[in-house]
Amino acid sequence: MEIVATVPYEGQKPGTSGLRKKVSVFQQVGYTENFIQSLLNAIPAQQRNGCTLVVGGDGRYFMAKALNVVVQIASANDVARLVVGQNGILSTPAVSCVIRKRKALGGIIMTASHNPGGLHGDFGIKFNVSNGGPAPESVTNAIYEQTTSLSHYQLHRNVQVEFNQLGEHVFLDGKFVVEVVSSTDDYVDLMKEVFDFPALKSFLTGAKRKNPFPIIVDCMSGVVGPYAKRIFCDELCSSEARIRNGEPLLDFGGHHPDPNLTYAADLVAILKTGDYDLGAAFDGDGDRNMILGKNGFFVTPSDSVAIIAANSQAIPYFRTHGLKGLARSMPTGAAIDCVAKAEGLPFYEVPTGWKYFGNLMDAGRLSLCGEESFGTGSDHVREKDGLWAVLAWLSLLAATGQSVEEVVCAHWKKYGRNFYTRYDYEEVDAAAANRMMNELRSKCQSLVGMKYSNDKEYEVKECDDFAYEDPVDHSTTEKQGIRIIFTDGSRIIFRLSGTGVSGATIRLYIDSYEKDSGKHTMETQEALAPLVSIALAVSKLKHHTGRDRPTVIT
Ligand code: G1P
Ligand code: ZN
Repeated sequence: MEIVATVPYEGQKPGTSGLRKKVSVFQQVGYTENFIQSLLNAIPAQQRNGCTLVVGGDGRYFMAKALNVVVQIASANDVARLVVGQNGILSTPAVSCVIRKRKALGGIIMTASHNPGGLHGDFGIKFNVSNGGPAPESVTNAIYEQTTSLSHYQLHRNVQVEFNQLGEHVFLDGKFVVEVVSSTDDYVDLMKEVFDFPALKSFLTGAKRKNPFPIIVDCMSGVVGPYAKRIFCDELCSSEARIRNGEPLLDFGGHHPDPNLTYAADLVAILKTGDYDLGAAFDGDGDRNMILGKNGFFVTPSDSVAIIAANSQAIPYFRTHGLKGLARSMPTGAAIDCVAKAEGLPFYEVPTGWKYFGNLMDAGRLSLCGEESFGTGSDHVREKDGLWAVLAWLSLLAATGQSVEEVVCAHWKKYGRNFYTRYDYEEVDAAAANRMMNELRSKCQSLVGMKYSNDKEYEVKECDDFAYEDPVDHSTTEKQGIRIIFTDGSRIIFRLSGTGVSGATIRLYIDSYEKDSGKHTMETQEALAPLVSIALAVSKLKHHTGRDRPTVIT
């Protein structure tokens, strides 16, 4: 065993979803080693000793190097077994699944999710705990603490693994085992338990209808390719399934692997030809999804989770386990609130980031949840799950016999429609963004009761900086975003991103409820224009940041 002296690196603080930095930052001498050693140091010795950890990632640039670091350092820190996806490949929901199935102590996920990859792109390392979900703040803070005073790391340089060889690789006289497993097997088995594969197969192949169901999925050169091929081609035998960008690439083909209307615009264009009845895209590590219907009909993620909830009986998993509760992150559109209310289900509003859902799921209070940022999932794992969402949509299309657009419109008719949009201002000067947020925070009290007329009159009912108390462990999380809530339920939300790597990203979220079905066909930006102008006026965003338009509108 080699002990290497090191000095701490500043800023190794995990954000919304792990430590995410430019590849060049991770490439600094000892940077990755320091973080992995700190992560292991943060696990109490009695738990770490003899433990099993799952390791995998989305195949992006630098992952192979990081995987070696993880293996060599783990081998010298009392870890007994690493379960690693073949060639290091495991999607984020698959890591969650494998941790749970193998009762591992946790897992290390090598991804920067939807951030671009490649030599000049981003890399990331995320730690998940034994429930399969992202580590809570108490754990990530403990890791960060370790990084600030680390003096050495230890490793076995001679532990070298052929990660393409499935099976057990035994080292150190049997004290350390690296088990290379199929990237897809455990996950596909779980999907077969959650969904009715024979029914989906007959739906997709057209056994029960006149024609096969045409579907196109865009894996955006991220990790989902092998999973999508396994499920749609091998298991569901769909001859009409087209898989785009199905090979994981180091740099995602130079694209931004984020499934939204901007970065998956090609897919939207393909759907507009009318050749496919369902389109879906995923992000780099496979936890996000975008759902499109024929002719490019866009299902907002906030609607998607609400619609799955309202049609949960189409999914065997929910038929068996029931819906224990529903939840969304605070800035997510409130469509799911309407379903919870109508069905009399417990409902939770949590801060941004999937980790807050996990506690509720572990306590048996939550079955289905989502975020506006293209995250949808259930308690089958403890991460959001892109492919799961597509299988959920296929299940409900098969059950209702309707098109995507018909399902969505029927939902709006029954529950009302939440018009929803998000504006992102990326790479804004961090000091300016903080000034804007601080000013808004100090204004909160004085905004209550203010009236704004802009076609319609809007009166501020409440305004605060969202704080959350976890109903299970009573931990509190503060400063999660400024909410301006109007008397009609419309909401304007400002928050700073916790996943960016340079400068600050300001996110502006607008949510507005419309009961009148005569107005449901309105164009979203038109419907929300009055609230957007109120948001820009109240925040003085342009004055603070110099930006007169967002970089991305969703
Ligand atoms: C973003 C999303 C958030 C999601 C996270 C990880 O975080 O807004 O909903 O959980 O990515 O995928 P943010 O950059 O806003 O902190
Ligand atoms: Zn992701």
